[in-house]
Order: sequence, then C-alpha cells, then structure tokens
Amino acid sequence: MALVPGEIVKLFKERFGSGSEPELYRAPGRVNLIGEHTDYNLGYVFPIALEMACYVAIAPAKHGKLRVYSRDVGSEFAIPVNEIGEAKPVGSWRDYVLGVARELVRAGVPLTPCDLLVASEVPTGSGLSSSAAIEIATAFALLGSRHLKPLDIALLGQRAESQFVGVPSGIMDQYASVFGRKGAAIQIDCRSLTHKYVELPHDLRIMAVNSLVKHELGSSAYRDRVAECQTAVAAIQESYPEVKSLRDVSLAQFEQIEESIPAVPRRRARHVISDTQRVPDLAAAARAHDLRKMGELFVASHRSMQYDYEISCDEIDFLVERAIKIPGVYGARMTGGGFGGCTVNLVAPDAVADFESELKTAYMGRFGIEPAFYDCEPAAGAARIA
Ligand code: GLA
Repeated sequence: MALVPGEIVKLFKERFGSGSEPELYRAPGRVNLIGEHTDYNLGYVFPIALEMACYVAIAPAKHGKLRVYSRDVGSEFAIPVNEIGEAKPVGSWRDYVLGVARELVRAGVPLTPCDLLVASEVPTGSGLSSSAAIEIATAFALLGSRHLKPLDIALLGQRAESQFVGVPSGIMDQYASVFGRKGAAIQIDCRSLTHKYVELPHDLRIMAVNSLVKHELGSSAYRDRVAECQTAVAAIQESYPEVKSLRDVSLAQFEQIEESIPAVPRRRARHVISDTQRVPDLAAAARAHDLRKMGELFVASHRSMQYDYEISCDEIDFLVERAIKIPGVYGARMTGGGFGGCTVNLVAPDAVADFESELKTAYMGRFGIEPAFYDCEPAAGAARIA
C-alpha cells in the first residue's frame, strides 16, 4: 500500500497520543539488477533503490522504554532502554528493530526513551529487501541528529541482520538502502565497500514481478550456499594459494582448475565468478546503450542461478520463460535471495502494458495466483523526510 508522510504522522498520533510532533524517516527497498549471492563472496552487485520504502516515525517519550508499533503487523512491543544492550531475538518482525537498537547501543550510541511507528510498503518475502528497509529506517530514526558515517550505518544494519536476526547475509541490501540515488543503479564493490553510480538508459523500464511465493527452503539454503562457497575457496586454494574469496578468481583461472573442485562447490563457484563478471559487463552495456546485451546478461544470470547456484523454483522459472518470449522484453531474471520472490525484467516502455497482461494471464492460468507488478524507478536512499 502506498504511504504518504501525513498519514504516518496521523497514525503515530492516534497510537501514541498527540504530544510532540514525530520526526519521519524513510529507507527504501531495493531490486538487484545483477550480481546475485556475490556480495558475501566480496564481488560486485548492481542494485537500485526503490520508491517503495519503510517509514519510521519517532518522538521522545517519558516511559523509560523503546516502544514500537508495527502498522503492518498490527502489534506493539516495548523494552526498557537500559535492557536493549542485552536484548535477545524472538524470531519475529521486532528483531529487525531491536537488532538495530542493540547494535547502536553496542557501538556506543546511547538511546533515550522513545516511541516508534514502523510502516512499510516493501512487500515481505519478495526479494526486494523489506528487512534492510526496516533496519535502515530504524537506524536513521534512532540516530536522529547524531552523525554516523553512511557506510557505518549500512554495516550496522548488516550486523543486526547477521548477529541478531541470524541470517549471514552480505552487505548489498543495507548498502543500497543507504546509498540509493534517483535515476541510477549502484555498482557496489563488496570488498572495498565503495560504489559508482551508473545511469540507466531512459528508454527502458525495470519491471519487478512478484510471484507471491516464498519457499521455506530460503534461509537454510542461504546458509548452505555461504558454506559451499567457502568449500570452493578451500579447493581453489590448492591451485591458487593467494585466493581469499571467490572474488579473487577470474573465469579463465577457474576454468583451468575447475575439474579439481568437487561438483557442487564447483557449480556454486561458477555462478559467483560469472555473475560478478556480469556486473561490470551490465554497467558497460548500460553506458553503451546496448539494450540487447543487457537482456542477454540478465538471461545468462538467470540460467546460472537456475542450474549452477540452484536457487530458483518453478514459479520463477515460469515467469522468466514467459517474459522473454514477449516482444519488447529484453531480458528477465530472478532477483534477491531466491526460492521465490520477484523476477526483474528489462522492458521497452511501449511493451509494458502487453507484458503485464500476458504474464498475468499465463501465471494465473498455471499457478492460480495473480502476480504483482512494480515499475521500479531508481529512487533515493534513506533520509529524514519530515
Ligand atoms: C539476500 C541477502 C543479500 C544478498 C542476496 C543475494 O538479499 O540479504 O546480502 O546475498 O540475498 O544476492
């Protein structure tokens, strides 16, 4: 549901009383264009921040607690401020907020009693990074006027995710939420933690299609993939002792020694190494305005996730196969962690209407589910908005 700042402030006042005027913060979700599961292998990723975002309204309070209401879940929790440093996860939405609060306390940022209202328009389980949007919006809100370097805010959000929520994810989602820019994709180097903005062709629409399925396998498979990549690195070190992560291996080097790597880690490594290379390739194609090449890279990336990384599923493969047959669609691929969520599609502007209606009819006919479509204009990163 699209949110407007005035509505959130109104909700905040209804919920917590009309005392002081809350401050309002926004942090976007993201859609990754290419470079999937490459971030924790210290390679490149290429996301854009979305208009769809999480909003956090915040005002000081006198009850000694951090009190948080989620509009989306319709539930509230509170914790005494002096207990935040020792807080434990409970396995629900509140972990994203509390994880960030705990990391701030542990980073030496004292928190004072306050009320927070969290409202997000980033669909959960969609691969569009709803969790990073909550984390980063919460971090900005709790920091208020206190300054922390933007990169440190992204890293703090990632720590909340890996050490509190318990998913050993890379830096992409929080980075994109902090550093998003209107009109541009962000080419992130996940080793040096630096980025370049890349403007995208104007005669191209980025359409995300939500399959509305999320197979449970997701978080355990994520852990497995992280471990398999480490196994691949260990096997590669037999031939190239200087290699520290899959980022250090070129495709040519890999092809010389791949026979020496056990079959499963070999396939995982092939995906990571090739998808990292596809990031600068996609950026170059975007700069050269080569839409056909951009589309080819999308499809190659999808095949790599489908067969080598094995993180796709029937619903997503169906959406990709159908999409790339529609005239005016340059390419399609799954985006995000995998096992459901969204595809991302490069579509000519005048083909968008047919794209939506054909894909909707086909997907409903096959799976009985009406997919959701999001027109993804690259948007700005997190900020205070009121
Ligand atoms: C999830 C993680 C990211 C990244 C993607 C896959 O979104 O949070 O760090 O690994 O999966 O590219």
